[in-house]
This record gives sequence, C-alpha cells and structure tokens, in this order.
Amino acid sequence: MACALINPKAVCKMKARRTLVVIVSAVSLLLLISCREDMHNQPKFIPLRENTFYPDERSARPTIPGTIARGQLQDDPLLYTGKLNGQEADQFPFAMTENDLERGRERFNIFCSPCHSQLGDGNGMIVQRGLKKPPSYFEPRLLKAPVGHFFYVMTNGWGAMADYSDQVPVADRWRIAAYIRALQLSHPAKSGELQTAHHAANQVPEQSSGEVKSAEPVRERKVEGTVIHKEAK
Ligand code: HEC
Repeated sequence: MACALINPKAVCKMKARRTLVVIVSAVSLLLLISCREDMHNQPKFIPLRENTFYPDERSARPTIPGTIARGQLQDDPLLYTGKLNGQEADQFPFAMTENDLERGRERFNIFCSPCHSQLGDGNGMIVQRGLKKPPSYFEPRLLKAPVGHFFYVMTNGWGAMADYSDQVPVADRWRIAAYIRALQLSHPAKSGELQTAHHAANQVPEQSSGEVKSAEPVRERKVEGTVIHKEAK
C-alpha cells in the first residue's frame, strides 16, 4: 500500500518479487546448511546403544564364553580364594617378608582398624559409636583359624561385615592376614619373646631364601603349620 502511493504499480510488483526471492533463497540456504551430512552419520557402533546390525540389536557384544581379560586368569586357587582343596588353607601363597608385614600393618590400620581397632580386639572407633562389635582376634576360635580364613573373610565378607575385595587388592589381603597373625602372636607375648620374634623376622632373607622364618614362634604358640606355598609367584 505504502509502495503504491509513491510508485507506479509495476515497480511495487517488482520490489515484492525481489523480497520474495531473497526470503526463499535465505530459507533454502538455511535448509541446505542443516542438511549437511559430512561425518555426522558414521557407520559406527555407539557404546551400549541399540544397533540393527546384529540380531540381538545390541552394539556391545557379549564376550565369547571362556574369555579371560589379560592379567585376570585366576589360576591359583590358594592365592585367589584362600582355599586348598575346598579347605581354608593355613599357608601363604607367597613368602611374607618383613616389608609385607609392614604393608599389611599399614593396610590393616587403614581398612580394618576403624571397626577391629588397631589392637584387633574389636573395639574400633565405629564400634564405640554403635556399630555391631566384631569378635576379638584373640578369641580361641580365631587364634586357631587358618590364615586362609582371614583372606576368605576379607574377600567375601562375613555376616554383618562387608567384603573388602574392591578396596584391597589380592596380595594386600594376604599381607593383612599375615599382619593379623602377627598381632595374634604378639598379644600374649612377653617383651623378651617379642624381641626374639622380631629378630627372627629380620633374619628372614639370609636364612631361608625368602621363606617365612617369623613363623617359628607361631609353632611355639600352637598355631602350627603356617608354611609357604612353594609354587608362589
Ligand atoms: C565397618 C566395620 C568393619 C570393618 C572396617 C572391618 N570389619 Fe571385620 N568384622 C566386622 C563385624 C561387624 C564382624 C562380625 C560379623 C558377624 O559375625 O556378623 C567382623 C568380623 C571379622 C572377622 C571374623 C570372622 C569370623 O570368623 O567370625 C574377621 C577375621 C574380620 N572381620 C577381618 C577383617 C579385616 C581383615 C578387615 C579389613 C580388611 C575388616 N575385618 C574390616 C566389621 C568390620
């Protein structure tokens, strides 16, 4: 209307057509841009997304039965279960040195002492604040328990206690078991005896090519048979 007031009709028509052309080309340009394919649509599997390529429509393929990831072949039952022939074993899968015991002590104080206390009497801080009290490691039953039992409890949990297999790697679980055994031995000991035991532990490498000699006082204390699994890695 405004156009017709100042211009002849033909000029107005031409202007209107030009505007139309501009709008149409702008819109189709936009459409063209958004239709760009490039590498957006690759023939690839997106993890755990539906996929029509396989009959079960899953992009993530199940592992072939019997597949074992590198480093996860658990072919040593003693090392991984704490058992030999279905029985909790009273031997370690590898030789425990003083360093292993030291590491066991450190791990025990981190992961176990909050409940079991650093002494192992089951009066940890969490227990003092109301959690169920675990048995003392100095109960006759646990004094007699094979070391494999402690490994088993850490690996699978026990009653109200959760397992620690995620937090504590296999070798450290054995080191903790060794440290608990050492705690059990030191508990009723007189200071003179402890000196001897410590001395024996220090002698380990020279005396016996890495075998646990600190188990000596164990025998005196009737926790017999704590021997080393020879095929240990
Ligand atoms: C959060 C508390 C808590 C922590 C941490 C904990 N425990 Fe326990 N533990 C318990 C309780 C509670 C029981 C008693 C469970 C029951 O009898 O129901 C128990 C029981 C045990 C027993 C005795 C099993 C038996 O034969 O009666 C052993 C051994 C043991 N724990 C070892 C460990 C070790 C080793 C660690 C560290 C890796 C650990 N626990 C960490 C709470 C804990």
